[in-house]
Amino acid sequence: MKNLVLIGFMGSGKSSLGRLISAETGRFFLDTDALIESHYARAIGEIFASEGEAAFRAAEKNCAAFLAKSVKNAVIATGGGMPIVCDNLSEIGKVVYLKCSFEAIAKRLSQDAEKSKRPLAASLEILRERYDARLKIYEKSAEIVINAEDPIEICLQNLREKIV
Ligand code: S3P
Repeated sequence: MKNLVLIGFMGSGKSSLGRLISAETGRFFLDTDALIESHYARAIGEIFASEGEAAFRAAEKNCAAFLAKSVKNAVIATGGGMPIVCDNLSEIGKVVYLKCSFEAIAKRLSQDAEKSKRPLAASLEILRERYDARLKIYEKSAEIVINAEDPIEICLQNLREKIV
């Protein structure tokens, strides 16, 4: 079974939808942020704080190379910046973009329990800049687009229909 690679901005629901579709399709679920934290034995916030964003992006590239070479039958939730630094996501699997307006993202992130893994979410201004700069790249990278503002059951239903 081909991997499914979920992309989209922070807070678009990649992990939540990824876990549901993985359970349903018998794929294993992986999260690139968690893989990077585990491999480097550092939290993402720590990598950003002590080595800077460039070190984290290099780790994302290593992670993408590993996934393309070694992983099958998985649903993979990527960090929101991964499509910006990795142009080989389609080599990993079918790329699914969870599209969400900035307003919805900002609302979700303000209620976020994972602040430590999202240092870029500390400022609304930085978030907006990144969001605007990334939209086209997300669109261009994806084979399937899901409206991530729909309730999660609807997202799941749409994704289910689009991957058959
Ligand atoms: C980032 C998104 C985060 C995490 C890191 C950087 C980004 O992942 O990889 O904080 O640049 O958009 P999520 O998209 O899972 O929040």
